[in-house]
Amino acid sequence: MSHSTVTVNKTTVFDYDAEFSLLDSMEENQVPANYNCRGGYCGLCKIKLTQGQVTWVQDSLVSLDADEVLACCCVPDGPISIEM
Ligand code: FES
Repeated sequence: MSHSTVTVNKTTVFDYDAEFSLLDSMEENQVPANYNCRGGYCGLCKIKLTQGQVTWVQDSLVSLDADEVLACCCVPDGPISIEM
C-alpha cells in the first residue's frame, strides 16, 4: 500500500504518503494536530478513527477507546476517515 486518502472531520481530504506516520502526514497537509511526545506516551495526538483501518507502527502506552488511535503511532491501511 503506497497511497491512501485521509478524510478529516468529513471535510478535508488529503493523500497520505506512506513514508510517514499519520501525525507527520497531517502536519504536512496543514491539518492542525495536537502532539507532544510523538512516541505513544502523552495521548495528545488521540483521534477518532471513524472509517478504515490503521497499522500500528509504535506501541501505545495510553488507554484508548475502541474507536480511538494515536496519530503518532499508526499509519493508514487503505483510505481512512478521522475525527478530531
Ligand atoms: S504525540 Fe504523544 S502519544 Fe502521540
